[in-house]
Amino acid sequence: MGVCWYCCCIGFDGNFFNLNFKFMRAYILKESESELRVSASPDSVKKMVELGISVNIQTSAGQNSNFSDENYKANGAKIFNNTSEISNADIIIKVNKPTDDEISSMKEGSLFIGSLDPYNSRETLNKLRDKGVTSFAMELMPRITRAQSMDILSSQSNLAGYKAVIDATYLFNKAMPMMMTAAGTIAPAKVMVFGAGVAGLQAIATAKRLGAIVSATDVRMAAKEQVESLGGKFVMVEDDETQDAETSGGYAKEMSDEFKAKQAKLISDTLAAQDIAICTALIPGKKAPILISEEQVKSMKPGSIIIDLAAESGGNCECSEAGETKEVGGVHVVGSKDITSTISEDASALFSKNILNFLTLLIDSESKSISIDWDDEIIQGILVTKNNEIVHKELS
Ligand code: NAI
Repeated sequence: MGVCWYCCCIGFDGNFFNLNFKFMRAYILKESESELRVSASPDSVKKMVELGISVNIQTSAGQNSNFSDENYKANGAKIFNNTSEISNADIIIKVNKPTDDEISSMKEGSLFIGSLDPYNSRETLNKLRDKGVTSFAMELMPRITRAQSMDILSSQSNLAGYKAVIDATYLFNKAMPMMMTAAGTIAPAKVMVFGAGVAGLQAIATAKRLGAIVSATDVRMAAKEQVESLGGKFVMVEDDETQDAETSGGYAKEMSDEFKAKQAKLISDTLAAQDIAICTALIPGKKAPILISEEQVKSMKPGSIIIDLAAESGGNCECSEAGETKEVGGVHVVGSKDITSTISEDASALFSKNILNFLTLLIDSESKSISIDWDDEIIQGILVTKNNEIVHKELS
């Protein structure tokens, strides 16, 4: 094992933690086979080098995003082969959570930056804690203006919302826009979007651009104006509970059984007339709400499409299963999995930019050293493990 990270410390300045390395060595890890994104692009590598970081990329890590090892090298990165080499890393960066092997190679005091799926990955968090790794879960980024450029949920959900509509269009054996031809008129497709957050709003915008008639539902009143500004029709249960359905962080709360029954009635009344349903409703840290029952699926016309982006969190549709496409009463139910991998070049480029923007917060540009303000709202929001403890207030 190399020299302990903390031994390189030149001192504390208030609650800032300054570390001076001859080089700050960052290692970008290759993802699993099913994940086609990568956490650094050649562009972000170039900027990391300018920040004073020595960047190392695992062989062919960017291949599935069309970023070759040569591209990275031309932008100042070195290529490494073996996971064991990350024992040299001061900063380890990955799209998804690290494997056990990767954690065992990390040195005490190194920083891990990436998605950690923290509510479902207790074992990984425990291993990072026991290894003394300081880890940041990028998906916990606070929804504040200053953090927008570091928000991986927004950058990736936006692309997912777009791609969900494209996937639906591909499966749909009718046209999306209205067409008036000499041979007759084709009616526009009807698309309903469940959950009007980042993915849902992009799905609405994409379906509108394709010429569909779009409606959407959510539990947050704030979504109404956003849906309408995109030309969608907003349908929702409005009662006392919806006045208080949003957390201070801007997310939806879990609704009562009474509300769910009213919402199920509303969906039964509207879904049967739809051609396509795009499901995006999520509640952070909880199972996704079931919004479409099997009976409601069967009420749709044969050939209708349901794309369930929430499938990996349990699904908004009772019939969906992550990674599977099923036919239920003639309706295609797609349980989306790794959808951003199907648009990996753009998804990787945006993810990498989010990571780069976060790194600039950690690095003092003058001394070219790591200088972390532990009191910063962003750091506090996403810091999960530090000094052999799980420190995040929702996870400890
Ligand atoms: P999300 O991915 O957690 O959920 C997606 C949508 O599903 C949300 O709109 C949520 O209200 C909705 N939903 C949850 N339960 C539902 C139910 N039972 N029925 C119908 N809809 C349900 O949320 P996302 O997309 O990450 O955004 C959440 C909020 O954060 C939005 O208001 C968004 O505009 C805001 N935001 C703010 C940012 C900033 O200020 N920096 C950046 C990104 C998002």
